[in-house]
Amino acid sequence: MSSNLAFKKTYNSMPEVTSFTPGRVNLIGEHIDYNGGMVLPAALEKGIFISLTPRNDNNIRIYSDQFDEIIELNINNTATSKWSDYALGSIVYANKVGFLNGGADIAITTTLPLGAGLSSSSALIVGILKLTASLSKKTFDNISIAILAKRVENEFIGMPCGIMDQMAISCTDPGKAIALDTKNLSFEVISLPKYHHMAIIHSGEYRLNTDGNFKKRKEECDIIKEIIGHNDICSMSDNEFILLKNISTDLNQRARHCVSEHQRTLRAIKAIKEGNIPKFGLLMTESHNSMRDDFKMSLPSIDNLVNDAIHLGAVGARLTGGGFGGCIVACILKENLESWRQKLLSLHPKAFNVI
Ligand code: GLA
Repeated sequence: MSSNLAFKKTYNSMPEVTSFTPGRVNLIGEHIDYNGGMVLPAALEKGIFISLTPRNDNNIRIYSDQFDEIIELNINNTATSKWSDYALGSIVYANKVGFLNGGADIAITTTLPLGAGLSSSSALIVGILKLTASLSKKTFDNISIAILAKRVENEFIGMPCGIMDQMAISCTDPGKAIALDTKNLSFEVISLPKYHHMAIIHSGEYRLNTDGNFKKRKEECDIIKEIIGHNDICSMSDNEFILLKNISTDLNQRARHCVSEHQRTLRAIKAIKEGNIPKFGLLMTESHNSMRDDFKMSLPSIDNLVNDAIHLGAVGARLTGGGFGGCIVACILKENLESWRQKLLSLHPKAFNVI
């Protein structure tokens, strides 16, 4: 159902504004957007449709087709640990920066699975912020929207994420990737390979951004930063590694992932720009191995899915997103896509196709 239709059914009027905001898949560069690294996320054709009408009072009503319920709140509410928090936080922050002056009625419909590591939450926040910004007389640009969206997640939701998802969603269009330097937010838009598809398969293992696993890894990285005395784990020197090794094997492994993942991402960006897709694929697979062995954010069932994806013909495959569940992304020749997907899914009955 379109969000306009959902809005009409829920509130018995037509919305003032409507938009589509894509989800994102990260091709390579995992858990380094808060550690000074380069990342390569792409915007998806699947995403979130939002219809919205501002209100003259402070009330907020939010309908989502995924939960099929209407939540009623107001702009003075704090987070309630429900799905509606992302929309609530966006309206609260839209008021803080003057995009809105009061509440709103909102209807959301989505083609993105939740808990898949495809950034449905960031898409919702960026979408609402852009819609409310467009209604106001304020000037805004895509980077400031991404920064504000990150504040909603960090400050309102309490999710200590980096800036990758918001930048990918706010600054690029479906079918394109951005090579993003998370140290200074400079980026280059990169075209995806012509003859290969970036297939996204859900493992059937569900995860929540707020389940504590992400936070734990972030806290480990914060300890590393304290020990080395700066925030740029991705550029750690050999001496800093020796210092860390004497303190903790776990932390040493987390840091090793950050440094190697940053280097891999740089090589992957070069490979994709040169059209060297076999090389790009190998780097994706190496990235998975590092997430599995050093950052320890995979699950055995996801490792099996990645292995089978490669054995069945993908040039590379890896877990994507925050980890501990969710989707894999695999690079596969378009002409082999259908048979590859069918064989892979028949080996993994819990898994399902996303894109
Ligand atoms: C989540 C976070 C991002 C990033 C990824 C892991 O999606 O929101 O900021 O850290 O995990 O790469």
